[in-house]
Amino acid sequence: VNEDKSTVSITVVGASGDLAKKKIFPALFALYYEDCLPEHFTIFGYARSKMTDAELRNMVSKTLTCRIDKRENCGEKMEQFLGRCFYHSGQYDSEENFKELDKKLKDHEAGRISNRLFYLSIPPNIFVNAVKCASLSASSANGWTRVIVEKPFGRDSESSAALTNALKQYLDEDQIFRIDHYLGKELVENLSVLRFSNLIFEPVWSRQYIRNVQFIFSEDFGTEGRGGYFDHYGIIRDIMQNHLLQILALFAMETPVSLDAEDIRNEKVKVLRSMRTLNIDDVVIGQYKSQTIGGVSYQGYTDDKTVPKDSLTPTFAAAALFIDNARWDGVPFLMKAGKALHNRRAEIRVQFRRVPGNLYNRNFGTALDRATNELVIRVQPDEAIYLKINNKVPGLGMRLDRSNLNLLYKARYEKEIPDAYERLLLDAVEGERRLFIRSDELDAAWSLFTPVLKELEAKKIIPEYYPYGSRGPVGAHYLAARYNVKWGDLG
Ligand code: BG6
Repeated sequence: VNEDKSTVSITVVGASGDLAKKKIFPALFALYYEDCLPEHFTIFGYARSKMTDAELRNMVSKTLTCRIDKRENCGEKMEQFLGRCFYHSGQYDSEENFKELDKKLKDHEAGRISNRLFYLSIPPNIFVNAVKCASLSASSANGWTRVIVEKPFGRDSESSAALTNALKQYLDEDQIFRIDHYLGKELVENLSVLRFSNLIFEPVWSRQYIRNVQFIFSEDFGTEGRGGYFDHYGIIRDIMQNHLLQILALFAMETPVSLDAEDIRNEKVKVLRSMRTLNIDDVVIGQYKSQTIGGVSYQGYTDDKTVPKDSLTPTFAAAALFIDNARWDGVPFLMKAGKALHNRRAEIRVQFRRVPGNLYNRNFGTALDRATNELVIRVQPDEAIYLKINNKVPGLGMRLDRSNLNLLYKARYEKEIPDAYERLLLDAVEGERRLFIRSDELDAAWSLFTPVLKELEAKKIIPEYYPYGSRGPVGAHYLAARYNVKWGDLG
């Protein structure tokens, strides 16, 4: 038996925060439960508050679930996992406190090769100091040191570049794992499989056959307690510039040389750099206001005490983007993202062109312009891929209607889909960078949105108000109509 001579310690910096409690610790447990973590591993929670190991374990245990199945050993696994969790209280900018952590980590490593992963789950204004202290005082002496950082990576091109430069004083690019949790979602990962391992999609994946592509994100709840954070960023920075744009890049990139991280990221960055800088005329912004639904009243965005009463921050945006390359010239890529809408959904909709000289033009029950094929990739909830096709209604007549060729994950696969954070944490432990954002991708993403963000703010553009729980501002329809497009999610 080969004894594993290395050890991995995962330090969650900001361990008492919401993300750590809701996502990071549960994802780590799920990985442990699935036997995906190395034999020797230790988890440290690091935060300012005073807490004992037992208190941390108690806090962590409240959010652990055995979501995979209900095997009897679940409780036992939880106990074992919690036994590997420890706590260290310290300031985020104290080299001294990180040195103490280093000492504790060394005790756990017991002379093995030490690999260290730091997950920074802390506000952006203290990122750099924490990275500095972790790298100067607690990096591994003989193995790897990696740092996971989560958005916001700045507010615009300049602040993002400043953050990147500051981090690079202490870390090499290949030590920085910039997370975009949408890249860890099952159906987003499947995009490349769909495109590159099926014969039938890639040949039609271009301006020749595709009329437009839509990336739609909606949530049926507002900023709920996060108003203070959200007001600094707004929906374009919170969802579009990262989550939706990353999906777009995977959707539109050329075939990579291989599945290696650098090859994939090279193709993504090429697409992003081929995109036209977003024009203010191609953007619609909205903000939700209070509404009473079924006797329950829902607060408007500015009713949140942490949001200034006169805030113009958009909680909804729609945008039309273009990729000026040979494959996509002239195809509108529409994005729509909003909070406090009528449903929760994330999907990609690919609307194909009309069949030229269609013999059956007269036989459609529905309007002709609706009878084109549409491929829908529903990222969440209820993951699915379906293709709308035209079909003859059975009978002696000749009437056509639209039906779905439907791959519903729930019906097809028994296994529950892992949370995005599980895949991403596992990849970070294994040093797989494919799903993390490289700094040139980040720069390109900011270049696309920064001018419009600045213009919206400088001109104090007033968002279109929409009631909580509605389908969002009507301006989004006009924007799509300008490109002869209808949003596919609205029927
Ligand atoms: C985060 C945003 O990145 O993604 C939140 O900051 C948003 O505003 C969340 O609610 C959505 O993630 P998910 O995985 O719940 O769709």
